[in-house]
Amino acid sequence: MECVSNKHVFVFILCLVFLTPFVYSQLNCNFYDRTCPSLTRIVRSNILSAIANDSRIAASLLRLHFHDCFVNGCDGSVLLDDTDTLKGEKNALPNKNSLRGFDVIDKIKSDIESACPSTVSCADILTLAARDAIYLSKGPFWAVPLGRRDGTTANESEANNLPSPFEPLENITAKFVSKGLEKKDVAVLSGAHTFGFAQCFLFKSRLFDFGGSGKPDPSLDSSLLQNLQKICPNQADSNTNLAPLDPVTTNTFDNTYYKNVLSNTGLLQSDQALLGDNITSSLVNNYSKWPILFFRDFAVSVEKMGRIGVLTGQQGQIRTNCRAVN
Ligand code: HEM
Ligand SMILES: *[C@@H]1O[C@H](CO)[C@@H](O)[C@H](O)[C@H]1NC(C)=O
Ligand SMILES: *[C@@H]1O[C@H](CO)[C@@H](O)[C@H](O)[C@H]1NC(C)=O
Ligand SMILES: *[C@@H]1O[C@H](CO)[C@@H](O)[C@H](O)[C@H]1NC(C)=O
Ligand SMILES: *[C@@H]1O[C@H](CO)[C@@H](O)[C@H](O)[C@H]1NC(C)=O
Ligand SMILES: *[C@@H]1O[C@H](CO)[C@@H](O)[C@H](O)[C@H]1NC(C)=O
Repeated sequence: MECVSNKHVFVFILCLVFLTPFVYSQLNCNFYDRTCPSLTRIVRSNILSAIANDSRIAASLLRLHFHDCFVNGCDGSVLLDDTDTLKGEKNALPNKNSLRGFDVIDKIKSDIESACPSTVSCADILTLAARDAIYLSKGPFWAVPLGRRDGTTANESEANNLPSPFEPLENITAKFVSKGLEKKDVAVLSGAHTFGFAQCFLFKSRLFDFGGSGKPDPSLDSSLLQNLQKICPNQADSNTNLAPLDPVTTNTFDNTYYKNVLSNTGLLQSDQALLGDNITSSLVNNYSKWPILFFRDFAVSVEKMGRIGVLTGQQGQIRTNCRAVN
């Protein structure tokens, strides 16, 4: 555990003795303690009011962090707007008309710039926002390693290659593995679908003519099927209607997702697919029974996700505006 205080003393001594760029370049939980002591308070109060205004925003912020980390690493690249010289990621298929929460990050950034100018990266702000969003939705709390720097590029084609709900589990797992995660992390992090919403076109293929069978997906619970057919009637104009990923406890971060999957009420094909593999289905079983185990494993996996491809030390920059390279 990187953020246990003993280890910090150790790292601190290492820094004093060697002052090597190697030690310097690691993330650590106290990164802004002296340079921006109000950071955690500012993020917390902004997420509190954002949730009070919009109960879905917590889920949206977590997804934003996921889409940041899986593309170009956790470098804030997802936050960049298109310019004449930079093609951002916001218009990639999985992101366009789908990602939310940019305004919340802008507001936090502007508060932080007033308190501690040019000090805290957008990538770190997004990571802290996701942690607080989970915690304030009754989910787990963990200490966030900090010190990420912001990227100066984006990668739209990689964003187009984010995991899709229509892919088989093996393909999704391969994408996680290519990011240094593993099959277990697919089962654990899919638990994020315990809150938030999805647009009809992302699961409608299950409702009417599944795989050309002329029938709904047989693995979809029949009473949920009826509700979903009402939300998403078989017409194109329903495509962007929203259904809750977890219809039982829609805005709460808990282990209900796994109970849903076990009772065939997972919304996305990729959610239900977790039962089609011995390892992931065993994890679904375990998390459905032991919420504390889920919380512990989720904190570990999401922290690991937060380390994908990070820029540290002198790499990248500290953006003053999260939407634009300095
Ligand atoms: C395992 C592969 C994954 C697939 C195929 C997937 C797919 C999706 C899809 C299709 C949506 C609905 C998007 C829309 O309606 O426009 C969604 C929403 C969401 N996803 Fe995932 N996802 C995956 C993994 C993750 C991970 C790793 C996280 C975070 C740790 C996450 C967090 C969320 C959240 C919180 C929402 C709701 C967002 C909102 O309401 O604004 N997902 N996901
Ligand atoms: C409240 O939430 C809505 C919907 O997300 C958003 O459009 C609006 O800007 C938010 N207002 C404030 C003050 O954050
Ligand atoms: C974008 O990501 C893909 C896949 O990781 C990689 O092959 C490509 O070189 C990247 N493009 C840029 C411009 O970095
Ligand atoms: C899954 O991955 C395989 C091998 O990369 C690919 O051929 C196949 O088209 C993918 N399936 C889907 C549904 O994306
Ligand atoms: C998965 O479980 C099934 C049924 O319990 C069993 O027949 C199969 O051998 C298992 N597969 C693997 C790879 O362990
Ligand atoms: C689920 O829990 C059981 C009982 O503790 C354990 O034997 C099993 O290994 C767990 N499954 C996974 C995939 O960790």
